[in-house]
Amino acid sequence: MKKKSTSDFRYNTGDTRIPWATVGESIRSDDIVEILKFLVPAGNTPKKYRAQLNRLITEVKKTCALGHYTTKLTLGSKVTELEKKVSAMLGVKYAAFLTNATAGFQIANGFAGVKAGDEVIVPAITFAATMLYPLSIGAKVVFADVDPVTINMDPADVERKITPKTKVIMPVHLGGYPVDMDPIMKLANARGITVIEDAAHGFGGVYKGKQLGTIGHFGAYSFHEVKNINSLGEGGILVTNEPCGADFPKARFAGFDIAHPIDHWLYDIVALKWHGDYFVPGNHSVTEVQAVALLSQLKRLKSIIAKRRKNAAYLNARLSKIPGIEVPPLDSKEVKSTHHLYLLKIDPSVLRGDIQDFKAELAAHGITQIQHFAPLYRFSILKQLGYDTAAIAKTCPNTEDAFLHRFTHLPLYDFSRTDVVYMADTIIKLITAMRR
Ligand SMILES: Cc1ncc(COP(=O)(O)O)c(C=O)c1O
Repeated sequence: MKKKSTSDFRYNTGDTRIPWATVGESIRSDDIVEILKFLVPAGNTPKKYRAQLNRLITEVKKTCALGHYTTKLTLGSKVTELEKKVSAMLGVKYAAFLTNATAGFQIANGFAGVKAGDEVIVPAITFAATMLYPLSIGAKVVFADVDPVTINMDPADVERKITPKTKVIMPVHLGGYPVDMDPIMKLANARGITVIEDAAHGFGGVYKGKQLGTIGHFGAYSFHEVKNINSLGEGGILVTNEPCGADFPKARFAGFDIAHPIDHWLYDIVALKWHGDYFVPGNHSVTEVQAVALLSQLKRLKSIIAKRRKNAAYLNARLSKIPGIEVPPLDSKEVKSTHHLYLLKIDPSVLRGDIQDFKAELAAHGITQIQHFAPLYRFSILKQLGYDTAAIAKTCPNTEDAFLHRFTHLPLYDFSRTDVVYMADTIIKLITAMRR
Protein backbone atom coordinates (compact mmCIF):
# COMPACT_ATOMS: atom_id res chain seq x y z
CA MET A 1 0.00 0.00 0.00
CA LYS A 2 1.28 3.46 -0.92
CA LYS A 3 2.42 5.58 1.99
CA LYS A 4 0.49 8.71 2.85
CA SER A 5 1.56 11.61 0.69
CA THR A 6 4.46 13.55 2.11
CA SER A 7 3.55 16.69 0.25
CA ASP A 8 0.63 17.84 2.34
CA PHE A 9 0.44 21.58 1.85
CA ARG A 10 0.22 22.13 5.57
CA TYR A 11 3.05 19.83 6.67
CA ASN A 12 5.27 19.72 3.64
CA THR A 13 8.21 17.81 5.08
CA GLY A 14 9.23 16.42 1.69
CA ASP A 15 9.76 12.86 0.51
CA THR A 16 11.39 11.46 3.57
CA ARG A 17 11.63 8.21 5.50
CA ILE A 18 9.40 9.31 8.36
CA PRO A 19 7.06 11.96 6.94
CA TRP A 20 4.86 14.10 9.13
CA ALA A 21 1.84 13.34 6.95
CA THR A 22 1.58 9.79 8.31
CA VAL A 23 0.30 11.03 11.69
CA GLY A 24 -3.27 11.05 10.35
CA GLU A 25 -5.18 7.76 10.08
CA SER A 26 -5.82 6.62 6.50
CA ILE A 27 -9.19 5.66 5.11
CA ARG A 28 -9.63 1.83 5.11
CA SER A 29 -11.95 -0.56 3.32
CA ASP A 30 -14.14 -0.74 6.45
CA ASP A 31 -14.68 3.03 6.25
CA ILE A 32 -15.58 2.79 2.57
CA VAL A 33 -18.10 0.02 3.30
CA GLU A 34 -19.74 2.06 6.08
CA ILE A 35 -20.05 5.07 3.77
CA LEU A 36 -21.57 2.89 1.06
CA LYS A 37 -24.09 1.43 3.52
CA PHE A 38 -25.04 4.92 4.62
CA LEU A 39 -25.39 6.32 1.11
CA VAL A 40 -27.20 3.27 -0.29
CA PRO A 41 -29.41 1.97 2.52
CA ALA A 42 -31.72 -1.02 2.12
CA GLY A 43 -34.82 -0.27 0.08
CA ASN A 44 -37.90 -2.45 0.14
CA THR A 45 -36.00 -5.65 -0.70
CA PRO A 46 -33.90 -5.96 2.49
CA LYS A 47 -33.11 -9.66 2.02
CA LYS A 48 -31.84 -9.23 -1.52
CA TYR A 49 -30.07 -6.05 -0.43
CA ARG A 50 -28.18 -7.82 2.39
CA ALA A 51 -27.08 -10.63 0.09
CA GLN A 52 -25.89 -8.19 -2.56
CA LEU A 53 -24.22 -6.01 0.07
CA ASN A 54 -22.24 -8.95 1.42
CA ARG A 55 -21.03 -9.75 -2.10
CA LEU A 56 -20.14 -6.10 -2.58
CA ILE A 57 -18.25 -5.88 0.72
CA THR A 58 -16.10 -8.83 -0.33
CA GLU A 59 -15.43 -7.18 -3.69
CA VAL A 60 -14.69 -3.79 -2.10
CA LYS A 61 -12.16 -5.40 0.23
CA LYS A 62 -10.55 -7.29 -2.66
CA THR A 63 -10.39 -4.12 -4.75
CA CYS A 64 -8.92 -2.14 -1.85
CA ALA A 65 -6.22 -4.77 -1.39
CA LEU A 66 -5.18 -4.36 -5.02
CA GLY A 67 -5.14 -0.56 -5.09
CA HIS A 68 -3.85 2.00 -2.65
CA TYR A 69 -5.84 4.43 -0.58
CA THR A 70 -6.25 8.09 -1.37
CA THR A 71 -3.98 9.93 0.95
CA LYS A 72 -5.01 13.51 0.45
CA LEU A 73 -8.50 13.95 1.85
CA THR A 74 -8.89 17.72 2.00
CA LEU A 75 -8.03 20.65 -0.27
CA GLY A 76 -6.22 18.55 -2.86
CA SER A 77 -6.29 17.87 -6.59
CA LYS A 78 -10.04 17.19 -6.77
CA VAL A 79 -10.90 20.54 -5.16
CA THR A 80 -8.56 22.19 -7.67
CA GLU A 81 -10.10 20.25 -10.57
CA LEU A 82 -13.59 21.32 -9.49
CA GLU A 83 -12.57 24.95 -9.16
CA LYS A 84 -10.98 24.94 -12.61
CA LYS A 85 -14.04 23.33 -14.15
CA VAL A 86 -16.44 25.78 -12.51
CA SER A 87 -14.28 28.79 -13.44
CA ALA A 88 -14.26 27.67 -17.07
CA MET A 89 -17.99 26.95 -17.08
CA LEU A 90 -18.86 30.35 -15.62
CA GLY A 91 -16.10 32.31 -17.36
CA VAL A 92 -14.66 33.69 -14.11
CA LYS A 93 -11.07 34.13 -13.04
CA TYR A 94 -11.36 32.82 -9.49
CA ALA A 95 -13.48 30.18 -7.78
CA ALA A 96 -13.10 28.70 -4.31
CA PHE A 97 -14.91 25.60 -3.10
CA LEU A 98 -15.99 26.18 0.50
CA THR A 99 -17.95 24.61 3.32
CA ASN A 100 -21.10 26.48 2.24
CA ALA A 101 -22.39 29.63 0.56
CA THR A 102 -22.57 31.35 3.95
CA ALA A 103 -18.77 31.09 4.20
CA GLY A 104 -18.60 32.68 0.75
CA PHE A 105 -20.67 35.65 1.94
CA GLN A 106 -18.40 36.00 4.95
CA ILE A 107 -15.25 36.10 2.80
CA ALA A 108 -16.82 38.46 0.24
CA ASN A 109 -17.99 40.85 2.96
CA GLY A 110 -14.46 40.70 4.40
CA PHE A 111 -12.95 41.68 1.06
CA ALA A 112 -15.56 44.43 0.70
CA GLY A 113 -14.20 45.86 3.97
CA VAL A 114 -17.53 45.73 5.79
CA LYS A 115 -17.12 46.77 9.42
CA ALA A 116 -19.24 47.80 12.38
CA GLY A 117 -21.51 50.72 11.53
CA ASP A 118 -21.50 50.08 7.75
CA GLU A 119 -24.77 49.24 6.02
CA VAL A 120 -25.51 46.13 3.96
CA ILE A 121 -28.71 45.97 1.91
CA VAL A 122 -30.37 42.56 1.62
CA PRO A 123 -33.81 41.58 0.31
CA ALA A 124 -36.45 41.34 3.04
CA ILE A 125 -37.41 37.82 1.94
CA THR A 126 -34.47 35.42 1.84
CA PHE A 127 -32.66 32.84 3.95
CA ALA A 128 -30.94 34.10 7.11
CA ALA A 129 -27.47 33.31 5.71
CA THR A 130 -27.53 36.50 3.64
CA MET A 131 -27.57 38.76 6.70
CA LEU A 132 -25.53 36.76 9.23
CA TYR A 133 -22.02 38.06 8.68
CA PRO A 134 -22.91 41.78 8.70
CA LEU A 135 -24.97 41.24 11.87
CA SER A 136 -22.15 39.29 13.50
CA ILE A 137 -19.70 42.18 13.21
CA GLY A 138 -22.11 44.97 14.15
CA ALA A 139 -22.80 46.22 10.63
CA LYS A 140 -26.37 47.38 10.03
CA VAL A 141 -28.55 45.21 7.80
CA VAL A 142 -31.04 47.20 5.71
CA PHE A 143 -34.01 45.39 4.21
CA ALA A 144 -35.07 46.13 0.64
CA ASP A 145 -38.69 45.44 -0.22
CA VAL A 146 -39.44 42.76 -2.80
CA ASP A 147 -40.80 42.95 -6.32
CA PRO A 148 -44.39 41.64 -6.10
CA VAL A 149 -44.02 39.60 -9.31
CA THR A 150 -40.76 37.73 -8.62
CA ILE A 151 -40.44 38.18 -4.80
CA ASN A 152 -36.83 39.18 -5.58
CA MET A 153 -35.17 42.35 -4.31
CA ASP A 154 -36.78 45.45 -5.84
CA PRO A 155 -34.07 47.72 -7.31
CA ALA A 156 -36.28 50.81 -6.85
CA ASP A 157 -36.47 50.17 -3.10
CA VAL A 158 -32.73 49.47 -2.96
CA GLU A 159 -32.20 52.94 -4.40
CA ARG A 160 -34.46 54.46 -1.74
CA LYS A 161 -32.52 52.70 1.01
CA ILE A 162 -28.97 53.50 -0.08
CA THR A 163 -27.17 55.93 2.27
CA PRO A 164 -23.56 57.17 2.39
CA LYS A 165 -22.90 54.24 4.79
CA THR A 166 -23.99 51.54 2.32
CA LYS A 167 -21.01 49.25 1.73
CA VAL A 168 -22.62 46.20 0.15
CA ILE A 169 -25.78 45.18 -1.72
CA MET A 170 -26.66 41.48 -1.70
CA PRO A 171 -29.22 40.52 -4.35
CA VAL A 172 -30.63 37.00 -3.96
CA HIS A 173 -31.81 35.04 -7.01
CA LEU A 174 -34.69 33.48 -5.13
CA GLY A 175 -35.69 30.05 -6.36
CA GLY A 176 -33.13 30.50 -9.15
CA TYR A 177 -35.05 33.32 -10.89
CA PRO A 178 -32.66 36.15 -11.78
CA VAL A 179 -32.82 39.46 -9.93
CA ASP A 180 -32.98 42.46 -12.24
CA MET A 181 -29.23 43.09 -11.92
CA ASP A 182 -28.67 45.99 -14.36
CA PRO A 183 -30.22 48.71 -12.19
CA ILE A 184 -28.54 47.30 -9.09
CA MET A 185 -25.09 47.30 -10.72
CA LYS A 186 -25.70 50.83 -12.00
CA LEU A 187 -26.60 52.08 -8.52
CA ALA A 188 -23.64 50.26 -6.96
CA ASN A 189 -20.99 51.19 -9.51
CA ALA A 190 -21.94 54.86 -9.38
CA ARG A 191 -21.31 54.86 -5.61
CA GLY A 192 -18.40 52.41 -5.15
CA ILE A 193 -20.69 49.89 -3.44
CA THR A 194 -19.73 46.20 -3.61
CA VAL A 195 -22.35 43.78 -4.95
CA ILE A 196 -22.28 40.25 -3.52
CA GLU A 197 -24.75 37.99 -5.33
CA ASP A 198 -26.42 35.38 -3.18
CA ALA A 199 -26.63 32.83 -5.98
CA ALA A 200 -27.31 29.99 -3.54
CA HIS A 201 -30.18 28.91 -5.82
CA GLY A 202 -28.67 30.33 -9.00
CA PHE A 203 -25.97 27.96 -10.22
CA GLY A 204 -26.47 27.65 -13.99
CA GLY A 205 -29.00 30.49 -14.31
CA VAL A 206 -28.49 33.35 -16.76
CA TYR A 207 -29.29 37.07 -16.80
CA LYS A 208 -28.82 38.91 -20.11
CA GLY A 209 -26.16 36.48 -21.30
CA LYS A 210 -24.28 36.45 -17.98
CA GLN A 211 -24.16 33.57 -15.53
CA LEU A 212 -25.87 34.34 -12.23
CA GLY A 213 -23.25 34.89 -9.56
CA THR A 214 -20.78 36.46 -12.02
CA ILE A 215 -22.52 39.81 -12.50
CA GLY A 216 -21.70 41.42 -9.15
CA HIS A 217 -18.21 41.78 -7.71
CA PHE A 218 -18.63 38.44 -5.92
CA GLY A 219 -21.11 35.59 -6.16
CA ALA A 220 -21.64 32.57 -3.93
CA TYR A 221 -23.47 29.34 -4.78
CA SER A 222 -24.78 26.74 -2.39
CA PHE A 223 -24.45 22.99 -2.85
CA HIS A 224 -26.38 22.12 0.29
CA GLU A 225 -28.38 18.92 0.01
CA VAL A 226 -31.63 20.57 -1.11
CA LYS A 227 -30.06 22.46 -4.03
CA ASN A 228 -30.30 21.42 -7.71
CA ILE A 229 -26.90 19.72 -7.31
CA ASN A 230 -25.05 19.08 -4.06
CA SER A 231 -21.65 18.12 -2.69
CA LEU A 232 -22.67 15.38 -0.24
CA GLY A 233 -24.93 17.58 1.84
CA GLU A 234 -22.94 20.78 2.31
CA GLY A 235 -20.82 22.98 0.10
CA GLY A 236 -20.51 26.33 -1.58
CA ILE A 237 -18.47 28.06 -4.24
CA LEU A 238 -17.40 31.70 -4.17
CA VAL A 239 -16.42 33.37 -7.45
CA THR A 240 -15.04 36.71 -8.56
CA ASN A 241 -13.16 38.39 -11.37
CA GLU A 242 -11.59 40.88 -8.97
CA PRO A 243 -7.83 40.48 -8.37
CA CYS A 244 -8.43 39.73 -4.68
CA GLY A 245 -9.78 36.35 -5.83
CA ALA A 246 -6.16 35.20 -6.04
CA ASP A 247 -6.28 35.27 -2.23
CA PHE A 248 -9.34 32.99 -2.02
CA PRO A 249 -7.23 29.97 -0.93
CA LYS A 250 -5.84 32.06 1.94
CA ALA A 251 -9.29 33.38 2.80
CA ARG A 252 -10.62 29.83 2.88
CA PHE A 253 -7.94 28.47 5.16
CA ALA A 254 -6.72 30.55 8.08
CA GLY A 255 -4.78 33.14 6.07
CA PHE A 256 -2.25 30.43 5.25
CA ASP A 257 0.52 31.66 2.93
CA ILE A 258 2.74 28.72 2.12
CA ALA A 259 4.51 30.54 -0.71
CA HIS A 260 6.06 33.06 1.67
CA PRO A 261 7.03 31.25 4.88
CA ILE A 262 8.36 33.23 7.83
CA ASP A 263 11.88 32.43 8.99
CA HIS A 264 12.29 29.02 10.65
CA TRP A 265 8.71 27.97 9.92
CA LEU A 266 6.68 26.34 7.13
CA TYR A 267 4.30 29.13 6.23
CA ASP A 268 3.08 32.62 7.04
CA ILE A 269 -0.35 33.63 8.35
CA VAL A 270 -1.76 36.80 6.81
CA ALA A 271 -4.78 39.07 7.15
CA LEU A 272 -6.40 40.01 3.85
CA LYS A 273 -7.84 43.10 2.24
CA TRP A 274 -9.22 44.44 -0.99
CA HIS A 275 -11.38 47.50 -0.30
CA GLY A 276 -10.88 48.99 3.13
CA ASP A 277 -9.34 47.41 6.20
CA TYR A 278 -7.81 44.01 6.76
CA PHE A 279 -10.04 41.11 7.80
CA VAL A 280 -9.12 37.87 9.55
CA PRO A 281 -9.84 34.71 7.56
CA GLY A 282 -11.47 31.64 9.09
CA ASN A 283 -11.32 27.97 8.16
CA HIS A 284 -13.87 27.00 5.49
CA SER A 285 -12.03 23.98 4.06
CA VAL A 286 -13.79 21.24 2.13
CA THR A 287 -12.95 17.62 1.53
CA GLU A 288 -11.82 15.94 -1.66
CA VAL A 289 -14.75 13.53 -1.51
CA GLN A 290 -17.16 16.46 -1.62
CA ALA A 291 -15.38 17.73 -4.73
CA VAL A 292 -15.61 14.29 -6.35
CA ALA A 293 -19.37 14.23 -5.72
CA LEU A 294 -19.91 17.71 -7.12
CA LEU A 295 -17.76 17.03 -10.19
CA SER A 296 -19.97 14.03 -10.85
CA GLN A 297 -23.25 15.94 -10.38
CA LEU A 298 -21.98 18.82 -12.52
CA LYS A 299 -22.16 16.49 -15.50
CA ARG A 300 -25.94 16.25 -14.95
CA LEU A 301 -26.61 19.93 -14.25
CA LYS A 302 -27.98 20.81 -17.68
CA SER A 303 -30.36 17.87 -17.77
CA ILE A 304 -31.45 18.50 -14.17
CA ILE A 305 -32.35 22.12 -14.97
CA ALA A 306 -34.05 21.04 -18.22
CA LYS A 307 -36.33 18.60 -16.34
CA ARG A 308 -37.21 21.24 -13.78
CA ARG A 309 -37.91 23.75 -16.57
CA LYS A 310 -40.22 21.26 -18.27
CA ASN A 311 -42.20 20.72 -15.07
CA ALA A 312 -42.44 24.47 -14.41
CA ALA A 313 -43.70 24.98 -17.96
CA TYR A 314 -46.32 22.26 -17.46
CA LEU A 315 -47.54 23.84 -14.23
CA ASN A 316 -47.67 27.28 -15.85
CA ALA A 317 -49.61 25.95 -18.82
CA ARG A 318 -52.21 24.35 -16.54
CA LEU A 319 -52.43 27.10 -13.90
CA SER A 320 -52.22 30.25 -16.01
CA LYS A 321 -55.87 29.94 -17.08
CA ILE A 322 -57.17 29.70 -13.53
CA PRO A 323 -58.61 32.88 -11.99
CA GLY A 324 -57.08 33.41 -8.54
CA ILE A 325 -53.66 32.01 -9.49
CA GLU A 326 -50.74 34.11 -10.69
CA VAL A 327 -48.13 31.99 -12.41
CA PRO A 328 -44.46 32.96 -12.21
CA PRO A 329 -42.45 34.32 -15.12
CA LEU A 330 -40.48 31.54 -16.81
CA ASP A 331 -37.47 31.70 -19.09
CA SER A 332 -37.22 34.37 -21.76
CA LYS A 333 -34.55 35.55 -24.19
CA GLU A 334 -32.99 37.59 -21.39
CA VAL A 335 -33.34 35.40 -18.32
CA LYS A 336 -32.93 31.70 -17.68
CA SER A 337 -33.91 30.42 -14.25
CA THR A 338 -32.41 27.37 -12.59
CA HIS A 339 -36.00 26.42 -11.62
CA HIS A 340 -34.91 25.57 -8.13
CA LEU A 341 -38.37 26.38 -6.73
CA TYR A 342 -41.77 26.98 -8.30
CA LEU A 343 -43.20 30.31 -7.16
CA LEU A 344 -46.95 29.96 -6.65
CA LYS A 345 -48.93 33.13 -6.02
CA ILE A 346 -52.61 33.65 -5.50
CA ASP A 347 -54.84 36.69 -5.74
CA PRO A 348 -56.80 36.84 -2.46
CA SER A 349 -59.13 39.53 -3.84
CA VAL A 350 -60.98 36.89 -5.90
CA LEU A 351 -60.82 34.14 -3.27
CA ARG A 352 -62.35 33.36 0.10
CA GLY A 353 -59.15 33.23 2.10
CA ASP A 354 -55.51 33.81 1.36
CA ILE A 355 -52.24 31.92 1.07
CA GLN A 356 -52.39 30.70 4.67
CA ASP A 357 -55.72 28.94 3.97
CA PHE A 358 -54.46 27.66 0.64
CA LYS A 359 -51.24 26.28 2.16
CA ALA A 360 -53.29 24.38 4.74
CA GLU A 361 -55.43 22.89 1.95
CA LEU A 362 -52.38 21.91 -0.09
CA ALA A 363 -50.81 20.22 2.92
CA ALA A 364 -54.06 18.39 3.68
CA HIS A 365 -53.95 17.03 0.12
CA GLY A 366 -50.38 15.80 0.42
CA ILE A 367 -48.73 18.58 -1.53
CA THR A 368 -45.59 19.83 0.11
CA GLN A 369 -45.21 23.55 -0.08
CA ILE A 370 -42.76 25.73 1.77
CA GLN A 371 -42.80 29.47 1.62
CA HIS A 372 -39.20 30.38 0.88
CA PHE A 373 -38.73 32.46 3.02
CA ALA A 374 -40.14 34.49 5.92
CA PRO A 375 -39.27 38.21 6.07
CA LEU A 376 -35.94 38.29 7.89
CA TYR A 377 -36.95 41.19 10.14
CA ARG A 378 -39.65 38.98 11.69
CA PHE A 379 -37.02 36.77 13.36
CA SER A 380 -36.14 37.39 17.02
CA ILE A 381 -32.49 38.01 16.27
CA LEU A 382 -33.25 41.45 14.85
CA LYS A 383 -35.18 42.61 17.92
CA GLN A 384 -32.50 41.10 20.15
CA LEU A 385 -29.93 43.22 18.33
CA GLY A 386 -32.01 46.37 18.83
CA TYR A 387 -33.72 46.74 15.45
CA ASP A 388 -37.14 48.45 15.36
CA THR A 389 -38.76 45.63 13.40
CA ALA A 390 -42.25 47.16 13.28
CA ALA A 391 -40.80 50.26 11.64
CA ILE A 392 -38.84 48.10 9.16
CA ALA A 393 -42.01 46.18 8.24
CA LYS A 394 -43.67 49.48 7.31
CA THR A 395 -40.89 50.13 4.78
CA CYS A 396 -41.53 46.74 3.14
CA PRO A 397 -45.24 46.71 2.20
CA ASN A 398 -44.86 44.25 -0.73
CA THR A 399 -42.98 41.86 1.53
CA GLU A 400 -45.67 41.90 4.19
CA ASP A 401 -48.46 41.48 1.66
CA ALA A 402 -46.71 38.68 -0.23
CA PHE A 403 -45.75 36.78 2.92
CA LEU A 404 -49.04 37.07 4.76
CA HIS A 405 -51.43 36.73 1.83
CA ARG A 406 -49.98 35.71 -1.51
CA PHE A 407 -47.04 33.41 -2.08
CA THR A 408 -45.57 30.02 -1.40
CA HIS A 409 -43.18 27.74 -3.26
CA LEU A 410 -43.75 24.28 -4.62
CA PRO A 411 -40.92 21.84 -5.09
CA LEU A 412 -39.68 21.23 -8.62
CA TYR A 413 -37.72 18.15 -9.56
CA ASP A 414 -37.86 15.09 -11.72
CA PHE A 415 -41.48 14.27 -10.86
CA SER A 416 -43.27 11.30 -12.27
CA ARG A 417 -45.93 12.35 -14.78
CA THR A 418 -48.61 11.19 -12.34
CA ASP A 419 -47.25 13.39 -9.54
CA VAL A 420 -47.01 16.58 -11.58
CA VAL A 421 -50.49 16.01 -13.02
CA TYR A 422 -51.82 15.37 -9.49
CA MET A 423 -50.21 18.60 -8.32
CA ALA A 424 -51.81 20.69 -11.08
CA ASP A 425 -55.22 18.99 -10.75
CA THR A 426 -55.29 19.45 -6.98
CA ILE A 427 -54.21 23.10 -7.07
CA ILE A 428 -56.93 23.84 -9.63
CA LYS A 429 -59.57 21.97 -7.60
CA LEU A 430 -58.64 23.76 -4.36
CA ILE A 431 -58.47 27.22 -5.88
CA THR A 432 -61.78 26.71 -7.65
CA ALA A 433 -63.36 25.76 -4.31
CA MET A 434 -61.92 28.92 -2.72
CA ARG A 435 -63.20 31.28 -5.40
CA ARG A 436 -65.74 33.89 -4.29
C1 LIG B 1 -31.31 31.99 -0.49
C2 LIG B 1 -30.22 31.29 0.26
N1 LIG B 1 -29.10 31.95 0.53
C3 LIG B 1 -28.08 31.36 1.18
C4 LIG B 1 -28.15 30.06 1.59
C5 LIG B 1 -27.03 29.47 2.37
O1 LIG B 1 -26.39 28.44 1.70
P1 LIG B 1 -25.46 27.46 2.52
O2 LIG B 1 -26.34 26.54 3.29
O3 LIG B 1 -24.66 26.76 1.46
O4 LIG B 1 -24.62 28.30 3.38
C6 LIG B 1 -29.30 29.32 1.33
C7 LIG B 1 -29.40 27.91 1.78
O5 LIG B 1 -30.39 27.25 1.72
C8 LIG B 1 -30.36 29.95 0.66
O6 LIG B 1 -31.51 29.29 0.42
